[in-house]
Amino acid sequence: MNELLTVSWENGAVRLLDQNALPGEMRYLNFERWQDVVDAIRIMTVRGAPAIGATAALGLALAAQQIEGNSREDFLLQLDKAAWSFKGARPTAVNLFWAIDRLMKRARNCEGGIKEIRAIILGDATRMLGEDVDINRQMGAHGAALLPDNARVITHCNAGALATVGHGTALGVIRSAVEIGKKIHVFADETRPRLQGMKLTAWELQRDGIPVTIIADNMAAVLLRDRKADCVIVGADRIASNGDTANKIGTYGLAVQAHYHGVPFYVAAPLSTIDFDLQNGTQIPIEERDPTEMTHAGETNLAPFDVPVWNPAFDVTPANLITAIITEKGIARAPFLESLAALRA
Ligand code: MRU
Repeated sequence: MNELLTVSWENGAVRLLDQNALPGEMRYLNFERWQDVVDAIRIMTVRGAPAIGATAALGLALAAQQIEGNSREDFLLQLDKAAWSFKGARPTAVNLFWAIDRLMKRARNCEGGIKEIRAIILGDATRMLGEDVDINRQMGAHGAALLPDNARVITHCNAGALATVGHGTALGVIRSAVEIGKKIHVFADETRPRLQGMKLTAWELQRDGIPVTIIADNMAAVLLRDRKADCVIVGADRIASNGDTANKIGTYGLAVQAHYHGVPFYVAAPLSTIDFDLQNGTQIPIEERDPTEMTHAGETNLAPFDVPVWNPAFDVTPANLITAIITEKGIARAPFLESLAALRA
């Protein structure tokens, strides 16, 4: 497989593959100011829950190098402000909060001075990159067993190498299945309104030589009805402790359709995507994005002038529509409250 370098730390800067330029152009952007990393997350130069978490971690490490505190306390105060800027960039993907909280805890617990805190945060942040790839590979190994040979798989949005540091979550399961010799055909929902399925999933699978067909989001029901899809597999932005799962808008509809047609619906996500503080999906904050994502194709407005638009970026699939949640520690099935807690232990 052609490993993609989605997020990295290069010569004191955060380097991102510019996902807004794909598939037309494969270009990397270097960020030398932490505030620009916050913006890159907001405007989706980088996107996908684990990739956002890894980028925020590197961004906080950059902030730690740049903040000059008068004292250790002043430094931590300013670092905390930077941490809050990252947390405000995208509210649904919990990996961002998980990564920032993990680093801030390490910073506060460090008994050394500013220099030592800087070193600890940078060390931890760069280590998180490798951890993410390892976790995705473990998830892939567990999930690959669920896919039959010659499986036809529907996926939604992009939960691939681009959405992580490497390998992917939902696409990582597919990649791992292909690596052990299974033949898989992927149907990629185009994923309105930002088209991550058409622009990103199709691009990265094609690059790896994994057969992929793009379908309009509203085609999936027909494939499921006609027995042309064997399962659905998606990623997640945040999973409540009972298994309710927030993922890209349209995931819930796809889960309803799969359930109706008796087709397995799988979620692949690392344990860092599970928010054990939330009892159920109603507590997951859902990001709402700019109306122009819906109304415009490039610079062209396709909608009546000034028409109201509602553009939530995510929806919540209730746990009862989910066949299994694939994590790096194993596969959880209903009742998820117990099975997810057991994997965490
Ligand atoms: O708005 P995006 O592109 O960041 O949304 C991404 C998704 O919904 C993914 O499915 C999810 O983050 C899982 S990625 C491994």
